[in-house]
Formats: sequence, structure tokens, C-alpha cells
Amino acid sequence: MIQRRHLLALPALISVGTMAACGEDSTGSGTAAQTSVEVFTWWAQGSEKAGLDALVEVFATQHPDVEFVNGAVAGGAGSAAKDLLQSRLRAGDPPETFQAHAGAELNDYIEAGQIQDVSALLDEFGLRDAIPERLLARLSVDQAIYSIPSNIHRSNMVWGSAAVLNDAGIDTSSPPASLDEFLEQLQRLQGAGVTPLSVGTTWTQVHLLEAVLMAQLGADAYNGLFDGATAWDGAEVTAALERFEAMIGHTNADRDDLDWPGATQQVIDGAAGYNVMGDWAIAAFEQGQLALGEDFVAFELPGREKVFGFLADSFTLPEGASHPDGARAWLETVSSVDGQLALSLAKGSIPARTDVDTAEFSEYMQSALTSFAQDAICSSIAHGAATSVAWLTAISEATSQFTTGASDLAGYPRALADAAGSGRG
Ligand code: GAL
Repeated sequence: MIQRRHLLALPALISVGTMAACGEDSTGSGTAAQTSVEVFTWWAQGSEKAGLDALVEVFATQHPDVEFVNGAVAGGAGSAAKDLLQSRLRAGDPPETFQAHAGAELNDYIEAGQIQDVSALLDEFGLRDAIPERLLARLSVDQAIYSIPSNIHRSNMVWGSAAVLNDAGIDTSSPPASLDEFLEQLQRLQGAGVTPLSVGTTWTQVHLLEAVLMAQLGADAYNGLFDGATAWDGAEVTAALERFEAMIGHTNADRDDLDWPGATQQVIDGAAGYNVMGDWAIAAFEQGQLALGEDFVAFELPGREKVFGFLADSFTLPEGASHPDGARAWLETVSSVDGQLALSLAKGSIPARTDVDTAEFSEYMQSALTSFAQDAICSSIAHGAATSVAWLTAISEATSQFTTGASDLAGYPRALADAAGSGRG
């Protein structure tokens, strides 16, 4: 069974090495001596893999009898993983557990009957009091809970190279106060002959789009985009799209060839002024030995009000997986205080539980904790918190058409409005 899975997943599968290899049932008898868990994520490279490795280390301590099999598929935000996962689920070949975002994305799997209610595990692991209500609500449908959260990320962050900004005469002691001031800085960087804003392939462009929408609309109007209260082709969205268009006009020519690490790296290398990316990016700056405030700056994309661009990683219990005990063990580690601490410290996120000791958190992570506790929450589009997989796909297609010049400011909002129609329908 395990061998067949590996064949299916082979083109993009990255193996974690010894831990992944030792449980192969080479006899083909299907009776491996110990339980194993294939964990399907997209934390395949760089700082994301470092996060997964940190979690696996805790898992090995807590469950030495369960073999970890790494089913990671490269591609930021699950851009490649989700398609492969869907074919495996349809073929009746689920991994023991897979990464999914808390929020609307779960509905796809719930409606297809592909994942199980994990409410009983939540009780067993004592999580009801440890997980904040605003997160629990995003994991629940009709009183049932469909995944166990591991961590929370903030999406609407701008990362800047202090050297590049200073060279262009931009004051880095305080962030720009508005979206338009940020745009003025991009123009200034353009004049200085550097890439003002680095971005990557389509999903990172959608990520930039959502940050601009949050900034321009503010929390209430932004959140209204997902329940029909705010029109996708109304004046405010169009004002946001105009700013998005201006920003795309200041980005790198090789954008469609890069995933997020390549785009963020341009700022780390001093080849671009700014990058808009979720706060997993901070782990890449830290891996590059850069210091916040000295070598790079970080701030929320400024706008109407301070908001927390929200997404949370979580892990599921698929129907029909071969080793439910292995999955249960993984979910226990993922939800444990030690597991959440290790993952967040390595990845730049904050724990999903509120009872983790955060004393050793960096200045940046402290700021994320405060913002999550205080600011209005805006659910991410690119990371499945606000929209289903099908709706996100339609938004991504419309965005790619726009940024490649195949549609314009008249067609783009219409396409986004159509996407919303099909998404909610
Ligand atoms: C998000 C995920 C994060 C991070 C990011 C970049 O969707 O929730 O944990 O991995 O993608 O790939």
C-alpha cells in the first residue's frame, strides 16, 4: 500500500530521508511491523521544511513507536499539493493525515465526505479551552470539527530591505502610513533603478491582491466580500484593483517563474525593495542571518485600519486511511504544547493554543500575538480561510489573466464577481 502511494506521488514528492524510508514494507505482505503515518503537507523546502522537521522531532519523542512518512509536495500555499491530494482522495488512496487551512477550504473536503469529524479527539487532547473561539469557529460545521489546528500565520505583511530602501532615500524608521504612501515609495524605488516590489507566480499575486483588498476596504467591507454584503465589482474593490495594478507594474519581470522563496529572496539579497508575503517569510530572513530593524523591516500593508490577515494550518483525519492510530498520534503531537511551540519557533507563526509559553518568542512573533488578540480578523483568500478551493481557483484564473495583460480593469472585477457567484453557489 505504502509503495503504491509513493508511486502515485513520485513526481513531486520530497522525502525526509531515514525516517521516511524505514517503514517500507518491502515484502509486499502489507503487514509492516509498526504503525506509520504518512503526513501530507507542502512544507517541502527551506524554512517550511525546517518547521516540519522541528515538528517531526517532537513527534519522534512523543511517539517513538510510530514511523513518520513524509508526503510533502513542493509548491507554496499547496499550489501543487492540492491537485495531487484531490486525485489521491478520489482514487481512495488518502494519506493518514493532510495539511489543510482552517476555514472555507475545509468545506470542499467535508462536502465530499473525505474527512472525519475530530470532535472526540479535541476532547481527548483537552483542546476546547486551549483553542480560541474565533479559531474553533473556523474549524466547525454544524457542531462538528473537522481538523486540528497547528499554528496561525499572519498574511498581510510587507518585508523590506533596509539597505535598498535607505539607498533610495526612504526613511525606514517608521512604515508608510497609507497604501498611497506605500505606492509613492514604490515609484521612488523604480526611479532608483531597483525592483520596487518582488512577487512570484499566480498564488503569490493573489496573496498580494488580498492584502491590498484588506488595506483598501478595512475589515467589515473585506469580510463582506465572502457573504455577499460587499460587491466584487463595486467602487471600493475597483479602487483596490487600481492600486493592485499599479503595484504589479512595479514588480520583477521573472515573477511567473518564482515561488514565494524566490520572490522573498530578492529582498533578502538586496535585489528588491519590498515583498508582500505571509509571516512564514520571517523564517527565511532569519535563516539568512538578517536582523529585524537593522537589515530588514516588516509591517502590515497600511490601509484603512489595522487588521490581522488570518490563516491557520491544520491537520485532518481522512476517511479510509490505512493507519488511523498513526494519524491520531500525529494529531496529538500537532496539537500538543511542545509540538506547537517547536513548529511556530521554526516557522515564524504563532501557536493555535493560547496556553503555550511564549517567553522565548521573537519581537516579530510577539507583535503577531498582540495583533491576533486585538485587531480585526480578515480571512485569507490565497490560503483557504475565506474561500473554497473552487472559488480560489476562479480568483486565481482571473488574477493571472489580469497580471498577464489578458484582461483589464473593466474585465477583472467582472471576473471576480463571477468567481464569487460560482463560489457561493
Ligand atoms: C500557507 C501555509 C503556510 C506556508 C505558506 C507558504 O498556505 O499555511 O504554513 O506554508 O502556505 O507555502
